[in-house]
Amino acid sequence: MLIETARLRKEYGELVAVQDLDLSVTEGEVFGFLGPNGAGKTTTVKMLLGLVKPSGGLASVLGRPPGTPEAMRRIGFLPEHFRFPPWLTARDFLDMHARLYGMTAEARRERIPALLDRVGLGGRGRSKLGEYSKGMQQRVGLAQALLNRPALVFLDEPTSGLDPVGRYEVREIIRELRGEGVTVFLNSHYLSEVEVTCDRVAIVKGGRLMRVGTLAELTQGANEVEIEARGLDGETLAGLARWGEVTADAETPVGTRKVTLQMTGDDALPQIAAYVVGRGAQLYALTPQRPSLEELFMRVMAEERA
Ligand SMILES: Nc1ncnc2c1ncn2[C@@H]1O[C@H](COP(=O)(O)OP(=O)(O)OP(=O)(O)O)[C@@H](O)[C@H]1O
Ligand SMILES: [Mg+2]
Repeated sequence: MLIETARLRKEYGELVAVQDLDLSVTEGEVFGFLGPNGAGKTTTVKMLLGLVKPSGGLASVLGRPPGTPEAMRRIGFLPEHFRFPPWLTARDFLDMHARLYGMTAEARRERIPALLDRVGLGGRGRSKLGEYSKGMQQRVGLAQALLNRPALVFLDEPTSGLDPVGRYEVREIIRELRGEGVTVFLNSHYLSEVEVTCDRVAIVKGGRLMRVGTLAELTQGANEVEIEARGLDGETLAGLARWGEVTADAETPVGTRKVTLQMTGDDALPQIAAYVVGRGAQLYALTPQRPSLEELFMRVMAEERA
């Protein structure tokens, strides 16, 4: 386990920001940490970095207590609200951080321009940070988080303020990191982005862990299938009742019919396909429906408690 917490807790006076959190993140995975505003995501990350002292519970990061120098050397961090010294150029800013990591002059000369390219700021390294747009600053922050070739990267809202191209590029960077075996802990509000980048996700609410698992695990159980066919008559439709209930039925502009079937049993797809074709209809698609991460998230938000 790269990250492990047991009953990790943070209280601010009366307010419980993180409640008895049990989490484990394995090496090489991209782990999405989701929740509404104020759910305790940033507080959790800060505890894992040793920046905030827990009120209770245990945490280990890279096999050590949070914040130890040995662990920090192998960790990258993009904070949620990065304050950039406006008078520094991006190059100087990265150089300063690289010196803090103890990188040699040679390593810095090679690494900094490469990273600026990687975050899409290749031509702008000599501009002052104060003249950067919000999205450009966010990109510098990301470059900073990757300076020391970390084994574990915490990204707290890495795409906030980025345009669609920037978001796409950050997703690509996360994919590359995964390819290099880097573990990524990602706080994000963009569910579609989490859906495509994360191996596993956790959903927190009010400091409590509500769900954790792979997307497939979390969104299974809908047991709904969409059937698109031409020549589906009323009798055929009625016959579908043996597998479940038809919950939607519509003609499409191309003259096919799309029917949604809420199935009662498991794994009836081959029988349904054979039945539809056997009735003389032309089957165009048989598509199992899964709830999106957004639907799951909304459902969890509507629940009273875990
Ligand atoms: N230093 C602090 N002092 C008092 N309360 C705090 C402090 N830091 C965070 N909190 C409270 O803890 C709760 C969790 O905050 P946190 O920043 O962890 O949320 P978050 O999930 O990161 O939210 P967001 O999505 O808005 O970034 C909030 O109610 C917040 O007001
Ligand atoms: Mg936050």
